[in-house]
Amino acid sequence: MKKLITATIAAVVLSSAAYADTIKVGVVGPFSGPFALQGKNFKAGIDAYFALNGNTVGDDTIEVIYRDVPQADPAQSKALAQELVVKEGVQYLAGFYFTPDAMAATPILEQGNVPMVVMNAATSAIVTKSPYVVRTSFTTWQTSTPIAKVAKDAGVNKVISIVSDYGPGVDAENAFKAAFEKEGGEVVEAIRMPLSTNDFSPIMQRVKDSGAEAVFAFLPSGPTTLGFVKAFNQNGLKDGGIKLFAPGDLTQESDLPALGDSALGMQTTFHYAVSHDSPENTAFVEAARKAIGNPAELSFPAVGAFDGMYVITKMIEATGGEQDAAKAVDAVKGLSWTSPRGPVTIDPESRHITQNIYLREVTKAEDGSYFNKEIQTFENQGDPGLAAAK
Ligand code: PHB
Repeated sequence: MKKLITATIAAVVLSSAAYADTIKVGVVGPFSGPFALQGKNFKAGIDAYFALNGNTVGDDTIEVIYRDVPQADPAQSKALAQELVVKEGVQYLAGFYFTPDAMAATPILEQGNVPMVVMNAATSAIVTKSPYVVRTSFTTWQTSTPIAKVAKDAGVNKVISIVSDYGPGVDAENAFKAAFEKEGGEVVEAIRMPLSTNDFSPIMQRVKDSGAEAVFAFLPSGPTTLGFVKAFNQNGLKDGGIKLFAPGDLTQESDLPALGDSALGMQTTFHYAVSHDSPENTAFVEAARKAIGNPAELSFPAVGAFDGMYVITKMIEATGGEQDAAKAVDAVKGLSWTSPRGPVTIDPESRHITQNIYLREVTKAEDGSYFNKEIQTFENQGDPGLAAAK
């Protein structure tokens, strides 16, 4: 009898061990090169999620496998995503800083039965490329629409638009133009620069020649935005009374020390400020700063990654750890929660995140550090870009 009980216990232990799986998540992002800090923020957000919530769902343990795509490189992104699915057996793909990298990996999803959780890439159309894409970041339509009203309310009527010539830049240009014209303003010139542009002096000259009262600009956060805002401030535009309006990519917190006093007062609209005042954000910032090491390096990709990991745990919960992309994605349609950025919902139709967009102003704290101070909230913003595409 005793033997039988021992044997039964052994069998139960064995079978439950067989069900305790490791669920692999493949994260693609820039982890080396000029945009490495953005990838480091993905990892800090994911590490912060695990520090606060653990890395298990039921009996299953989440393992994250990182793959480095240093700059926008769709071929490399697709090859690495394929390798993650086929060789590493990941059940989820996530990350994707640059739009072309996210776009290139979408054909793999249905074939591989794998959902993709986009933690940054911000072109509206990405979610339309596969029913298995869910996004926890933002779109440039979402962030560039409210700044048009801010510019008009500041008394500006003529704007020159300057964007990086690829998906999120074209979306930003269209979003700003549509909203600014609706307010009665005029976009006098629209410049699209190659993504690789790093000498902005000729563009600043075109701004001076355009007769515009203000610049609207979008570039992807990184050395690009730092260089652009510095050039704007150093080419006499700011001193000449020309204003700069942009989504928050241009004043990410990790750039503020290098921009210094010259960025003070700059207004941007964005989904997340590190200074956001809420208990959820206090806990997140503490954990993410610990994860990243240098507190001044914390920036917005971390919150997209933190919330993305939350969404993935909900998918794992709903599927009981089984690989079923359709069921996983269905389970998070309409999901609402309180993110460190504020209240959010995964729109059940678009699978993109609905959220508040905040107007913020670069401000100096008493200790001499700089931060984006939230001064106005545009509540519950969906993605106007998807509506515009219809
Ligand atoms: C993108 O490529 O979609 C992208 C990258 C960085 C940003 C915004 C959008 O700051």
